[in-house]
Amino acid sequence: MHSPDPELLTFARQMRDDLNRLTMEHQFAVDEVLTKVSILRQEFLHLNQYNPIEHVGSRVKSVQSILEKAIRRNLDLTPAAIREALTDIAGVRITCSFIADTYRILETLTAQADVKVVQIKDYIAEPKPNGYRSLHAIIEITVFLSTGEVPVRVEVQIRTIAMDFWASLEHKIYYKYAGVVPEHLAQSLLEAATSAQQLDRRMEQLHAEVHGPKLADDVPDPVWDAIDEDVLLRAWEANRRPQP
Ligand code: GTP
Ligand code: MG
Repeated sequence: MHSPDPELLTFARQMRDDLNRLTMEHQFAVDEVLTKVSILRQEFLHLNQYNPIEHVGSRVKSVQSILEKAIRRNLDLTPAAIREALTDIAGVRITCSFIADTYRILETLTAQADVKVVQIKDYIAEPKPNGYRSLHAIIEITVFLSTGEVPVRVEVQIRTIAMDFWASLEHKIYYKYAGVVPEHLAQSLLEAATSAQQLDRRMEQLHAEVHGPKLADDVPDPVWDAIDEDVLLRAWEANRRPQP
């Protein structure tokens, strides 16, 4: 066996270091987005007494698949070029109960001052021809490192449980047939997507009927109930006292 080309070794080491750093930065960005989502979830629960988020998942592409995609796309193999072209190195997927919640989460997340919106695709309003529905946002957030600030992009997918169920099955079928799904299966998938859409609507109606436009007063509030009446009265009087 001949020894590897020293230039290849140098290239491989540089590549490894660059890509490890790149994935690390994207992991930090994912962590930041997950914290944001967790805060939104808890705040929403606190204000509305119900949890709009069923599940949150995340992943960072492996060094191997970043490299494969970069080669496939014929990119310059520099961290800057890869960072610019591959916007799905970091991914966060949020599964909600209802369609209204998917939009609410997208709006509140993208309205944050430290979140820059790069792109939004609304495949709920306009499903893909195969029936795929979801909200997609590419956002950019700043990660603060000892070496400085880095803007990092994260692909956020927001969908309902029904959309998620459909997408994971479609994904499996797509891969099983290497992208060439037989016509009868494609047709069935499209029908299943319509059923999922009807289910989403029906569930939302039921939810509205039961939950209704609830007033905060109707809801038992453990924090409020725990406040001693005497303390409350004193707080009220203190509040009425004219300010010096
Ligand atoms: P890539 O396909 O990732 O290169 O990006 P794109 O420019 O096509 O972006 P798009 O927003 O269409 O899709 C991004 C991601 O959404 C994909 O990587 C999938 O995770 C998901 N997605 C998009 N379309 C489909 C679909 O038809 N079926 C399923 N199961 N997932 C999809
Ligand atoms: Mg695609």
